[in-house]
Parts: sequence; C-alpha cells; structure tokens
Amino acid sequence: MTGGLVLGVESSCDEMAAAVVRASAGKTEVLASVVEGQAQVHRPYGGVVPELASRDHLRSVSAVADAALRKAGIDVTDLAGVAVTAGPGLLGSLLVGLSFGKALAYRHGLPCVGVHHLAGHLAAAELCEPDLQVPYIGLVVSGGHTALYRVVAEGPPEILGETRDDAVGEAFDKVAKLLGLEYPGGPAVARVAENGNAAAIALPRPMLHDPNLDFSYSGLKTAVSLAVQEREPLSEAERSDLAASFEAAATDVLVAKARRAVAEQGASHLAVVGGVAANQRLRAVMGRAGDEDGFRVVFPSPELCTDNAAMIAAAGARLLAQGERHGLELSAFSRVPLSQRPWS
Ligand code: KG4
Ligand code: ZN
Repeated sequence: MTGGLVLGVESSCDEMAAAVVRASAGKTEVLASVVEGQAQVHRPYGGVVPELASRDHLRSVSAVADAALRKAGIDVTDLAGVAVTAGPGLLGSLLVGLSFGKALAYRHGLPCVGVHHLAGHLAAAELCEPDLQVPYIGLVVSGGHTALYRVVAEGPPEILGETRDDAVGEAFDKVAKLLGLEYPGGPAVARVAENGNAAAIALPRPMLHDPNLDFSYSGLKTAVSLAVQEREPLSEAERSDLAASFEAAATDVLVAKARRAVAEQGASHLAVVGGVAANQRLRAVMGRAGDEDGFRVVFPSPELCTDNAAMIAAAGARLLAQGERHGLELSAFSRVPLSQRPWS
C-alpha cells in the first residue's frame, strides 16, 4: 500500500475513538475523527475504573467506527487499511479496539497494523505540522507518560529522559482530586488556575536542576497535599491559588527540561504531544522559550493532543506504506517502550 484511506481505532484508556485519514506521498489529511469519552461512567469514582472502561468500549466500538466512516463519506470497502492501538494502555480496553480492528480487516481482506500509542501521539504533531524536521525533540506528556525523545527519520525514537515515578497528567488528576475538582482532572485544574496567583504558594520543582532529562512528579503531588491540609477548609481563592501554583511548578520543569534537550541535541524543532499538551499555560510558556532560544515549538491542535484515532491512523498509514502488516495473532501490550514494538 502506498497511500489511500486508513481507518484508525484507539481504545487504550477511557476514550473510544475512530478516524479516517487519507494518506498520499508525504501528506496525510484527516477526513473524520470521532471520540466518545466516558466521563459520566468514571466521574462517580474520581478516576478511570478499568473494568467499566472496557465494558463501555464494547458498547460503543461499532457505532464509533460507523460514525467515522459516515462522517468521512466512505464505505468500509473504500479503505486501504486498518490501524489500531496495540499498546501501551489498559489491557481490557486495548483488547476491545484491537479485536474489532483485526476482525474488520480480516472480514474485508484489508491489511492491518498495530500502532504504539506514543508513536500515535507523536504523529499528531506531524499531522498538524507537515514540515516538522527530523531529527526533532518530542516531549510526550499524558496521563501515563512523561518523556523526552529524539525522533529520527528511520528507526524508533530514542529516549532521552522520562519520569522516575508519576506522569505529569497523573499529577494533574491527583491534584484535582485533592482540590475537590471533578474527573477528568487536568482541564478542571487548568480552569480553576485561571483565577489564581501562580506565585501565591511556594511549591517544589522536582529535578529542575539535576543534570539529566528525567522528571519526578510524586513529590510535587505530596507538597500540594500538605498545602491543602494546612489550609483546610479551602476558600475559593486558596483553591485557585493552589491550582495555579501547581500548574506553574508542573509545567516549569517540562519547559526547562525540553529546552535543555533541544540545546543538547542541537535540534531546531520541538513537538509537545499528549493530553497535557492541551494545557494553555504550557503552550504559552513553551512557545516563549522557543522564541528566546530560537527553536520552533509545534503543538497539535487541542483535540489532537488528547487521545484520538486520527493520530493512530496517521502513524499506521506510514507503517502500512512501509509494508508492515500484522495478522490475527497481534496481541495487546499493557507496557512496552516506544523503542520496541514486540508485535511487529
Ligand atoms: O493523552 P491522553 O488523552 O491520555 C493518555 O494517553 O494518558 O492524556 C490524558 C491526560 C490526563 O491526565 C488529563 O488530566 C491531562 O491529559 N489533560 C490535561 C489537560 N487536558 C488533558 N492536563 C492539563 N491541562 C489540560 N488542559
Ligand atoms: Zn494518550
């Protein structure tokens, strides 16, 4: 396959998503992208309940895929291939999308490829900025990952640094809980932070001055927990100040380490991807850092930062064009480094 219409399916966590892209030499266009979230399913529990996530995926998978095909104005017989997230993520959730994608491909005699979820997130930047020049630095910031990569033309991205404990998105979600905000936490913290003073409460910036490209977020989360305990019950103003101070501490470390990675590698472009890349403060501060240091910062549009299937279809279209094919034996992986694709 050298191009054509590719259906992407993504179900690694609590979003069921399907999308259609048209891939031709060097250009990928999104024809339709449908995402069905499960906020109402998990909100009573304050976080994702894996068993409920996979059950809800089972309910919605066919309808979401149909909706993507309909929105794209195509029939399944027009497809040139199917791309589906094979990992990492919640196994039960992954299996729903993966089984659906494999079955659909088998039924219609289409080639199928498994895509690494983080390769998908990076492909979102390339979708939004076709001129992104390799090698570039990729900062992946999501609910499960916080890592810096050097992305090259051939071969897997090389890891430069990663979190030693919690992911930054996980910290946003936990801080939201501490502040009594509803799931999903990241956008809620960002909303409340808009009315707060980021300098009001001194919080640590873990590993900021360590001479490496690693991160740590569990200590920051503990510091917020202690600050909440000292002030309880929180006034509205204190809650906003804590949210703003946390958001500043969390994003400052991301900016500092990404800046260092770009300088050390002599890169001209930085792509910031994953759910936390939708954060407006991070977008603004990272953009200014790029202007000061003379590198270009690429953020996918906010709907392509959080989990979606357009990014999976885009990454899969490239694999299909390279001749990669996976059979029915393709299985889901809950944890797998981006440098290694054990299903291929
Ligand atoms: O990439 P993603 O949709 O799913 C994973 O692969 O994990 O990222 C979800 C994470 C969650 O932790 C969520 O709280 C965070 O991204 N997030 C945000 C924002 N929007 C989503 N964090 C900060 N600010 C936001 N605006
Ligand atoms: Zn993700």
